[in-house]
Amino acid sequence: SPSDPDLVARARAAKEKLGDKVFVLGHHYQRDEVIQFADVTGDSFKLARDAAAKPEAEYIVFCGVHFMAESADILTSDDQKVVLPDLAAGCSMADMATAEQVAECWDVLTEAGIAEQVVPVSYMNSSADIKAFTGKHGGTICTSSNAKKALEWAFEQGEKVLFLPDQHLGRNTAVRDMGMSLEDCVLYNPHKPNGGLTAEELRDAKMILWRGHCSVHGRFSLDSVNDVRERIPGVNVLVHPECKHEVVAAADYVGSTEYIIKALEAAPRGSKWAIGTELNLVRRLANRFAEEDKEIVFLDKTVCFCSTMNRIDLPHLVWALESLADGKLINQIQVDPETESFAKLALERMLALP
Ligand code: 13P
Ligand code: SF4
Repeated sequence: SPSDPDLVARARAAKEKLGDKVFVLGHHYQRDEVIQFADVTGDSFKLARDAAAKPEAEYIVFCGVHFMAESADILTSDDQKVVLPDLAAGCSMADMATAEQVAECWDVLTEAGIAEQVVPVSYMNSSADIKAFTGKHGGTICTSSNAKKALEWAFEQGEKVLFLPDQHLGRNTAVRDMGMSLEDCVLYNPHKPNGGLTAEELRDAKMILWRGHCSVHGRFSLDSVNDVRERIPGVNVLVHPECKHEVVAAADYVGSTEYIIKALEAAPRGSKWAIGTELNLVRRLANRFAEEDKEIVFLDKTVCFCSTMNRIDLPHLVWALESLADGKLINQIQVDPETESFAKLALERMLALP
């Protein structure tokens, strides 16, 4: 829907008043009405890297979800303030691994006698606490655009990986990019005693996958892939690695949001694409590439927005920018120094991956 012209004018005026004092980052899943005000757009890796790109900006307004704003706070200097326009913009996947559960898991691994061989690799989509745990235990963060490199690095450090919290990204990367088999992976269920696994199962596994997932990408099924191939002959199926393994295995291409955009930019005229990721991005790409005669459809028949990404709307952005322009700091995301130091270690290991 078109943005309210009054709100657009207010956002523009507040941004102009703030000038170089504000730097607005926007994840690709953000609404059109919000993304138009982003100074930089990107996938989670690019935004983590770019957060530190404007050290002169006093405020970083993060149009994305809570774990991204936390990561930006960790990676920027102490006098830069990160603002999340709606504090309710969380991520259900990140919430699936709490600090207590992960500490308990480490005890289980210790009791099974394997903790010393295990390197934690945590998806960006996790709380700062989980990132700190990862840093403390010699592990790294990864995103969907560098998960393979992160796993390669981790298997140079140890024999096993504890992958948190997205089982699908972990499994897909292990099997698709690392040549492991499904039997090399076990699923650790934090709601069951000992994760629902025997010590023997843990000792035999190479990849210990945390039982988390993204409910948005979880909607895509093998049926969605088969249906679209039937409906649109010659269609290229391109999905995000947060999709289930069977969906990724049936797709033609797999990658992060930034990868998806690049793939469509490089696609020939007249090509047809079915995209398995969040709907704001797919709609924007369908509109953008319609002029180049590229047919882009959403992979599923149902509508899949990320409800928490969508919480950042134009009214919230206007409120955030106007408050900052009036000298009022609101919705600051601040990670405590102890957590920050360990989480930063893990994030910096990611940034140093080849
Ligand atoms: P990327 O933009 O890194 O592909 O991540 C997608 C996502 O789910 C962010 O929450
Ligand atoms: Fe979290 Fe999924 Fe939304 Fe990404 S799309 S922010 S993983 S709920």
